[in-house]
Amino acid sequence: MRILLIHGPNLNMLGRRETATYGDKTLSEINSLVAKRAQELGVEVLSFQSNSEGALIDFIQTESARADGIIINPGALTHYGLSLRDALADSALPVIEVHLSNIYTREEWRHKSVVAPIAKGQISGLGWRGYILALEFLVADKNEASP
Ligand code: DQA
Repeated sequence: MRILLIHGPNLNMLGRRETATYGDKTLSEINSLVAKRAQELGVEVLSFQSNSEGALIDFIQTESARADGIIINPGALTHYGLSLRDALADSALPVIEVHLSNIYTREEWRHKSVVAPIAKGQISGLGWRGYILALEFLVADKNEASP
């Protein structure tokens, strides 16, 4: 099983950026924590970050044929990234949308996600553990479908 772990704009700044909102772990620390859990679960995780919507779409188009699911924090593209949304829908993979912060307790413009309607589910506000929970869900769900 192979999972794509995708991080959108500004998430490369984690650890320094608004730590009260996003926590103090860096992106590479988060990627390592997910990789460690993936190893325990016996699955492969391929992680990717970009500040550019086009690069995120290129990655999805290139990698989705050889993947079983997507975990994505689209950053602010969550709220308006329609091309990203279309690429995720076109992948036909189960997508779990993750947000470090609870987008529903923040500014009103963050309450709307254009990704959520094509996602299998969304985890918002559980910090870095949201990525681990998303991974555990995708693995459990796949194993249940084809043990
Ligand atoms: C975020 C929430 C978005 O509104 C914001 O633009 C981000 C991070 C989160 O993880 O809480 O970049 O996706």
